[in-house]
Amino acid sequence: MNKKAIVLAFSVSALSGFQIIAQAADVDAGRDAFETCRGCHSAPGYSNVYPTYYVPKIGGQVPAYTVAALKAYKESSRSHRTMMANSYDFSEKMMENIAAFLAESTGGSKKSISNMGDIAKGKKLAETCLSCHDDDSSPDATNPRLAGQYANYLEKAMKDYQSGKRKNPLMKSMVDKLSDDEIKDISAYFASLKGLTTTE
Ligand code: HEC
Ligand code: HEC
Repeated sequence: MNKKAIVLAFSVSALSGFQIIAQAADVDAGRDAFETCRGCHSAPGYSNVYPTYYVPKIGGQVPAYTVAALKAYKESSRSHRTMMANSYDFSEKMMENIAAFLAESTGGSKKSISNMGDIAKGKKLAETCLSCHDDDSSPDATNPRLAGQYANYLEKAMKDYQSGKRKNPLMKSMVDKLSDDEIKDISAYFASLKGLTTTE
């Protein structure tokens, strides 16, 4: 390599190195931004006022899904008054920072609260879901982790897809034909697995 080529190679690698640093999410900034969220998401079994279901566990959630969820609230395509108010002024970067912090925040409560569903029946029914919801922890995972989530929140999410309150044609088609009992059993199964936690 002549001198010019060495200089060029160095500057290219220095540039791409810089880009990697510039793109990496800032976990500490995410932790700071999450301060206002703890009252609800760090309290095990904390209930939303109405309808009654527990505030979802988001510790250990797949980062790409957390960003997608926050965007959906911000853009009002997913409606929930508190969450819309909590995300309206977030930049994309801030959502990524929070998502990176949440993915690492796995030391909180894993306590699961039964919805009295039949876990064995739920496991059978959930077979078709596992191709996407297999608790994938690879960095390029995009589908939400369901393992360890509160059963009553999972029930609520599936019913929101059925009713169209949560607009997602793919998930609507997945759960549209399920009865309330089947939804209960599937939720009991995912809730019984180890996975998500409340945040630290
Ligand atoms: C007053 C309680 C409360 C506060 C404060 C709150 N949340 Fe939430 N959050 C909820 C509830 C309830 C839901 C479920 C809403 C729904 O059904 O869509 C939720 C949903 C979420 C979800 C989607 C979870 C999923 O599995 O789809 C994310 C991500 C989230 N919150 C992040 C945050 C962040 C970040 C903050 C702070 C900036 C925050 N929340 C503040 C109550 C709260
Ligand atoms: C082809 C992939 C795929 C399959 C199969 C699939 N899902 Fe999903 N699921 C998704 C995606 C993508 C989302 C996120 C949608 C969104 O942003 O609202 C999702 C979201 C969910 C949520 C909401 C999670 C949360 O934290 O709010 C639940 C509950 C769920 N799926 C249950 C199921 C069940 C039960 C089955 C099987 C009957 C199933 N899914 C099959 C891809 C899939």
